[in-house]
Amino acid sequence: MPGIILIGAQWGDEGKGKATDLIGTKVDYVARFNGGNNAGHTVVVGDESYALHLLPSGIINPHLTPVIGNGVVVDPEVLFEEIEGLESRGVDCSKLLVSSEAHVIAPYHRTLDKVTERFLGKHKIGTTGRGIGPAYADKINRVGIRIHDLFNAEHLRNKVEASLHQKNQMLVKLYNRRAIDIDETVEDLLKYGEKLKPYVANTSLVLNQALDAGKTVLFEGGQATMLDIDHGTYPFVTSSNPTAGGACTGTGVGPTKIDRVIGVVKAYTTRVGEGPFPTELLGDDGEWLRKQGHEFGVTTGRPRRCGWFDAVVARYATQVNGLTDFVLTKLDVLTGLESIPVCVAYDVTSADGSTHRVSEMPVDQAEFTSATPVYEQMPGWTEDISTVHSFDDLPQTTQNYVHRLEEISGCRISAIGTGPQRDHIIEVHSLTD
Ligand code: IMP
Repeated sequence: MPGIILIGAQWGDEGKGKATDLIGTKVDYVARFNGGNNAGHTVVVGDESYALHLLPSGIINPHLTPVIGNGVVVDPEVLFEEIEGLESRGVDCSKLLVSSEAHVIAPYHRTLDKVTERFLGKHKIGTTGRGIGPAYADKINRVGIRIHDLFNAEHLRNKVEASLHQKNQMLVKLYNRRAIDIDETVEDLLKYGEKLKPYVANTSLVLNQALDAGKTVLFEGGQATMLDIDHGTYPFVTSSNPTAGGACTGTGVGPTKIDRVIGVVKAYTTRVGEGPFPTELLGDDGEWLRKQGHEFGVTTGRPRRCGWFDAVVARYATQVNGLTDFVLTKLDVLTGLESIPVCVAYDVTSADGSTHRVSEMPVDQAEFTSATPVYEQMPGWTEDISTVHSFDDLPQTTQNYVHRLEEISGCRISAIGTGPQRDHIIEVHSLTD
């Protein structure tokens, strides 16, 4: 089972770390394929936990080779902060490989992210402010800086000049800000180039050779399906492809090398930033879920918006990712509820003002924004499930809840997260065999 993609099936923060932990020991390479330091996961090193944003989660596993693929946008300052933070705790990061084709987040991308959001006012996206969108915009506009550009001073200067020519006009004339200094930018980027050199590789070749040799590669997605630039709730999305297809374009590995596509889904739903969220709970129930689930962002510390499980979203994730398995996380958070609402369809309003019921994701974003959830009520449970290690030992109502989610989401649930600790997980079907 050599090529495994692991992605988020909702709006992010599904707890992918749980699934990575489960699969990690059987994996040789962990490759990130999209996004940048807008992601966030906590890794535990000895007694200490450490928040990572850019490095693949497998970095702390000494037998693993962590890879940053070409589809990732790399902020070198953050990369070295994370490497140095881990190395000071005795974690060896020397095996890390960074694609020479990955794009660089320069300081001016961060500046642009913030001023653009401010300028958008009530239309803002609610970005993480890490420069992700502007770096991907430069990539698509063909004025981006790639990692291998950092090794040649003259070449880099030409690229930075091309990129800043228009941006400086915009910053000064439109946003009333100071122009970015080209010399300073080039100098800083060259310094990072020197530091980066030992890690840089042709990662597409490395990963393909590994797969051909029968090694196992885990392709780890940042963000999630509903934040995908093509398939998410545009424009309230991130600027990359966190869906399964992104794993291929973002690493240079063909789809025929992929054997398994695992979607991580929370037993309820959360979202950070702006944008539509049909099952969102604005009152006491939302507050209860946020408290029970400790729903505050790793990257920005923002309180997450919380709502009930949305099977329309889960079914859509099954479809656009071609999921083979779900990992259901944070099921324990629902313990204590007498009855658990699950959204099975939406009532949507069309442009002509008529209302109708849909059970599949509306392609029209205006319709999706108007969606009112149609709920089915599932009986809850009060027993502590965090100590249960086998599916058959779960309370019958919990088993029923899981089976119903499988049925309406269109994909089997192969593992269930039952608590915050690493071993709070029930593996129903092996994720690697
Ligand atoms: P950006 O990725 O910083 O451009 O932000 C775009 C949208 O994606 C915003 O709504 C962010 O809150 C959201 N976002 C980005 N990364 C994550 C993540 O890792 N988890 C959840 N939401 C994210």
